[in-house]
Amino acid sequence: MKAYELHAKGIDNLKLAERASAPLAPHQVRLRIRASSLNYRDLMTVLHGGMGVSLPLIPNSDGCGEVVETGAEVTRFKPGDRVITTFFQRWIAGEITSDVMRSALGGALDGVLSEQVVLDESGLVELPSYMSFEEGATLPCAALTAWQSLIVKGRIKAGDTVLVLGTGGVSIFALQFAVLHGAQVIVTSSSDAKLARARELGAWQTINYRSDPNWEKTVLDLTDGKGVDQVVEVGGAGTLEKSLTATRFGGMVGLIGVLTGFGGAVNPDVVLRKSVNLQGIYVGSRAMFEDMNRALSAHQVKPVIDKTFDFGQAPEAYRHLEAQGHFGKVVISL
Ligand SMILES: NC(=O)c1ccc[n+]([C@@H]2O[C@H](COP(=O)([O-])OP(=O)(O)OC[C@H]3O[C@@H](n4cnc5c(N)ncnc54)[C@H](OP(=O)(O)O)[C@@H]3O)[C@@H](O)[C@H]2O)c1
Repeated sequence: MKAYELHAKGIDNLKLAERASAPLAPHQVRLRIRASSLNYRDLMTVLHGGMGVSLPLIPNSDGCGEVVETGAEVTRFKPGDRVITTFFQRWIAGEITSDVMRSALGGALDGVLSEQVVLDESGLVELPSYMSFEEGATLPCAALTAWQSLIVKGRIKAGDTVLVLGTGGVSIFALQFAVLHGAQVIVTSSSDAKLARARELGAWQTINYRSDPNWEKTVLDLTDGKGVDQVVEVGGAGTLEKSLTATRFGGMVGLIGVLTGFGGAVNPDVVLRKSVNLQGIYVGSRAMFEDMNRALSAHQVKPVIDKTFDFGQAPEAYRHLEAQGHFGKVVISL
């Protein structure tokens, strides 16, 4: 079978290789991967050569496909079932642990940018029946992260106000989930065209963070000086302080991403003075994934796919993500 292997940092070092099929242990299943979506984290892994994990590595956490063979003791799935991979193979339910952190696909473990993968049956969920393989492949990382932040930790309620930064994978799912729960959503972007698309998806207010660099003040104005109930904070060092300013007293900032980089200094005064709940978010458990899929199915929510590339064009897909012209998710179809 063919798989993409990363041998050194750089998109040009992502090469197709021939790999032998592994035999199945009793609780494992063999999947034929039909689609894989890209996350910013996968791009960073490729650009920086694995980020602390040993090479060669098969990248990508997010896969969707069909079960082709099951080990002798598998009970959750049978051949022909359509399934999605979980980001953390060992996070079934409950709180995150250090062991869970060592079970990420396309990181500590080889990923899914491969014609076939062998995984434990516990590291898979059923694909919602109304979704295509490409749509299902968008869910394991970006969607579940937005879900954990807004719904599990943020306990969103109808009438809440939510601030979503940018229009990448996590943020567009956050917009869709917040709208689904009856919240009023403010979306920021560098592009007016993308903001128009966000309004079509139900955004209440939109702000261009390039033409309005003091966007946190605009958020305060839009919320009668109070600030939003929750922020889906994907920017990191360059946006955190502004996000805190844009949050109401007692509100929550879901700390998710580092699009503007790590490091930086944040004045703790604003967190303390406004009693802001700063909550780190790391994707989510299989139990959260199954809850999310139930909600998606009940409301037939369609993931937003920006562009789909063929398997042979995987390096082009990475370059497309790197250019940041996308809105929602970038997918590779096998
Ligand atoms: N903690 C977790 O579990 C977890 C899970 C998933 C992702 N993440 C992190 O979350 C971040 C987003 O991931 P993703 O996969 O959704 O990325 P992505 O799809 O590549 O998102 C890229 C978009 O982010 C927006 N952006 C860039 N700089 C920005 C800024 N200064 N202010 C506001 N928006 C900005 C841009 O939107 P516009 O083009 O509209 O300006 C850009 O198109 C990454 O840092 C990723 O590592 C963390």
